[in-house]
Amino acid sequence: MRRKVIAGNWKMNMLPNEAMSFIEGLAPMVKNTPNEVILCVPYTDLFYSLLTAQNTNIKIGAQNMHYAEKGAYTGEVSGQMLKAIGVEYVIIGHSERRQYFGETDESVNKKIKAAFQNELKPIVCVGETLEQREQGKAQEVITLQTKLALEGLSNEQIKNTMIAYEPIWAIGTGKTATAEDANQAIMSIRQEIANSYGNDVAEEVIILYGGSVKPENAKELFTTSDIDGGLVGGASLKVEDFEKIVNFE
Ligand code: 13P
Repeated sequence: MRRKVIAGNWKMNMLPNEAMSFIEGLAPMVKNTPNEVILCVPYTDLFYSLLTAQNTNIKIGAQNMHYAEKGAYTGEVSGQMLKAIGVEYVIIGHSERRQYFGETDESVNKKIKAAFQNELKPIVCVGETLEQREQGKAQEVITLQTKLALEGLSNEQIKNTMIAYEPIWAIGTGKTATAEDANQAIMSIRQEIANSYGNDVAEEVIILYGGSVKPENAKELFTTSDIDGGLVGGASLKVEDFEKIVNFE
């Protein structure tokens, strides 16, 4: 059985003092959960969050990284830098980065490889736009994004890659994919992995759903056959909401 994973993506929110009080408040509420709890925080919160999360079951991730180890890339942060301070996870290829910051399937693939070189675990985002969905191309888009993201990785690396299916029309809009639709989409991603790398690999990959996950819809989504948890944006900014999502059972 795959474990359930609930990851928060704070995006560009939370100052260090807010991050620390959030984690202090959350820790006792989630200490008995069997689910894996991850918070992906802004770079400026990483160090404070790591310190506050010490001796808790909350893991800390970044929201992006550069694929080079180091060099003349003003304003960027490398995997080596994240690893050096103790970061465990990193989101790669979030739709907001693809949309606003020129992230491509090629850079996503390079970043995943660089994450593994630095022993970071990538959470790779895929998802279709509303237009693509209306044209009946959703499945084609997400399976292609998955295929290109994973190109050149070993089976072992793929087993350790988390994928987050985030339909772009459901992000921050209050519109959630139905549990059935989201599960169907995630099954098609798993099938794509099975076709290329075999069933045993596909069965181990954790695939999350993201897009307006809330306390009210978490249970329905996370108890389907293939959805292994969630990547939560807005509802990860309030302890009382995020706690309910982690403790969805
Ligand atoms: P919302 O939960 O705010 O829709 O955001 C989802 C998301 O983009 C998580 O990465």
